[in-house]
Amino acid sequence: MNIHDLETPSVLIDLDRMERNIARMQERCNSLGLAFRPHTKTHKIPDIARMQLDAGAVGIACQKVTEAEVFTAAGINDIQIPYNIVGPQKAARLADLALYNRITVSADNTAVIAGLAEAARANEMTIRVMVDLATDIQRTGAPIEEVVELAKKIDADENLHFAGLMVYPSNPVVRPVIQEALARLGEAGIGVDSVSGGGSGAALHAHEVPELTELRVGTYVFNDWSSVGKGWVTPDDCAMTIMATIISHPTPDRVILDSGSKTLAADRWDNAHGCIVEYPEARIYQLSEEHAHCDFSACETRPDIGECVHVIPVHTCVVSNLHDHLYGVRGETVEAVWPVAARGRVW
Ligand SMILES: Cc1ncc(COP(=O)(O)O)c(C=O)c1O
Repeated sequence: MNIHDLETPSVLIDLDRMERNIARMQERCNSLGLAFRPHTKTHKIPDIARMQLDAGAVGIACQKVTEAEVFTAAGINDIQIPYNIVGPQKAARLADLALYNRITVSADNTAVIAGLAEAARANEMTIRVMVDLATDIQRTGAPIEEVVELAKKIDADENLHFAGLMVYPSNPVVRPVIQEALARLGEAGIGVDSVSGGGSGAALHAHEVPELTELRVGTYVFNDWSSVGKGWVTPDDCAMTIMATIISHPTPDRVILDSGSKTLAADRWDNAHGCIVEYPEARIYQLSEEHAHCDFSACETRPDIGECVHVIPVHTCVVSNLHDHLYGVRGETVEAVWPVAARGRVW
């Protein structure tokens, strides 16, 4: 099949670029002696996870239990879920998954630890739990003062195993906190199996945080316009584009594409909703659900109605979750049609 046989909007994955991204990140981790655990929330596709494992990854990460269920069903069974599992239903579901797979979760408070212990006890099993350590992004993460108490609580429970420390993102700025946590745990006589860091930007600085033993990275597999904007990659490293059609050209400068917020996702970078590869000077300044509003005033030429363009999205992980299929392409040939199997698995 040729890409022009596809209807627009369609999400294309340039296979040469994706394969290069996979190889490059794996080589980076290998050279640093880091175990690599790609975060599959970016693509939600077991076939792509399989390529990452074949390249040398030790396992995968999923953000939610239901997402992990899709990957275990596809035969991938070493999964980290770096997320607080809250509530008896979710904990029971996690325990089900962990009975037959190597699942590691994280926790940053005692309520989550108690819920995990209860679910594990009910199944006469052990659940692997890391302590999520606070970082500069101020999302989840226990403050340094609580790390030993949480680790002790996990360690002391016969149905839980203390599996180490988890941080996100593991930028060098967080290194002193990791060092402090390791020192405190050492003084308390608690062994730390693993220090798991993550983030596509942080991966570029992983050599500056030698305490890390493992890295979870997601966006790197496709990259996106925000990765370019942050200086992590170049446009040539972006494997995902949305093939879209010019459907209207109401004024000399206003051009409308058939891809709106339900296709490109609503994220913005540098005041734009992505980059049109064929017209990099154009700006996607606004999205309706099914329309992209573009300003072509800075472009030398204007597109024709019916012309196809390719948009590098701002946030690739959200785009995957909006589509039934991603198309793996080499040049203009469609080599793979992947159902986004974990699409909508957000609970
Ligand atoms: C806990 C956790 N680990 C790893 C990642 C992967 O980060 P990135 O997509 O920047 O590689 C994320 C992304 O949000 C995350 O939340």
